[in-house]
Amino acid sequence: MREIPVARPLVGEEEVEAVARVMRSGMLAQGSVVTEFESRFADYCGAAHAVGVNSGTAALHTALLAAGVGPGDSVVVPAFTFFATASAVSICGATPLFADVDPETFNIDPESVKDLIRPDTRAVIGVHLFGQPFDIGAVREVCEDREIVLIEDAAQAHGAEYHGRRAGSLADIGCFSFYPTKNMTTGEGGMVTTDDDALAEKIRLLINHGQSRKYLHTVIGYNYRMTNIAAAIGLVQFGRLEEFNKRRIHNARYLDHHLAGTGLATPCVAPGVRHVYHQYVVKVPGDYVLSRDAFMSALADRGIGTAVHYPIPVNRQPVYENTHASCPVSDDLAASVVSLPVHPAVTDEDLAYIRDTVRGLP
Ligand SMILES: Cc1ncc(COP(=O)(O)O)c(C=O)c1O
Repeated sequence: MREIPVARPLVGEEEVEAVARVMRSGMLAQGSVVTEFESRFADYCGAAHAVGVNSGTAALHTALLAAGVGPGDSVVVPAFTFFATASAVSICGATPLFADVDPETFNIDPESVKDLIRPDTRAVIGVHLFGQPFDIGAVREVCEDREIVLIEDAAQAHGAEYHGRRAGSLADIGCFSFYPTKNMTTGEGGMVTTDDDALAEKIRLLINHGQSRKYLHTVIGYNYRMTNIAAAIGLVQFGRLEEFNKRRIHNARYLDHHLAGTGLATPCVAPGVRHVYHQYVVKVPGDYVLSRDAFMSALADRGIGTAVHYPIPVNRQPVYENTHASCPVSDDLAASVVSLPVHPAVTDEDLAYIRDTVRGLP
């Protein structure tokens, strides 16, 4: 039987060799390999600056701090996302306000953002969920009038585009993750992008113990530095990103076409965006032949990995229960979505097998 995991990093001999070169050089921590990775990543995104960090969560945390977010402030985030989008706000001592999402694109709903804005709202984080840019234009309009900082959580969207511009250059600050399941990886890692010189400088200070020069600490900072080892993996992966994304898009289009008519709702792509399918997420409607659990276990029995991203909206997590936010679309999605494999290691034979298996259900 075939075994098709729902996610799988593609790393090979080139990454091994790049890491070995760094190990032999003896320059293991932050250094010239990080600088090269940052500069190539900034160019690719179309941003003036890119700062390498050691996780996507560190990217979000420092982006918020650089934007001046702290105790007494609130930040609007979507309820339907990975936990770190909101926890980064709480780590700053600020309060996340949970916006609901669009039922078709699963991305933050600009109307919900508008309804939530309060006098103490300092930032909005929109997430390019599953690789599809959110409606930046509409959310930016809400932010601009009120001098609110707009942050893109692009953890799942390396190479995604919104009206011809790449993720990482769409808002005031962009935050990426290089966790192994992402569109490209460094093991653990992240990147912050911005056009703003002052923000970039603050972020560089914050990720390095607040040192403005060696042993001179002007703010309380963190050790969020990226290592040369991670950057070496990142540079090789970055060289393969377009090939990876094209394969994800190819796989997604195949499933769009061949799952039509099965009763599953395939992903909806907004006009003018390039969706890079970090995940390929279908909805299992109430009138489908199987319940979501039965659908997932039928596929598991036949070697096809699936996952639920995400089973609990962030506002419903035990730590956020006291916020009493109401996000009914997020609740519906949490109860009905399933991710199917489209990562670049999924072959044409795998796709045909997924097609035949799903079409043959129950
Ligand atoms: C939307 C989103 N935001 C933030 C993160 C946090 O990234 P990391 O796991 O690299 O800290 C992730 C990654 O899991 C994510 O998917």
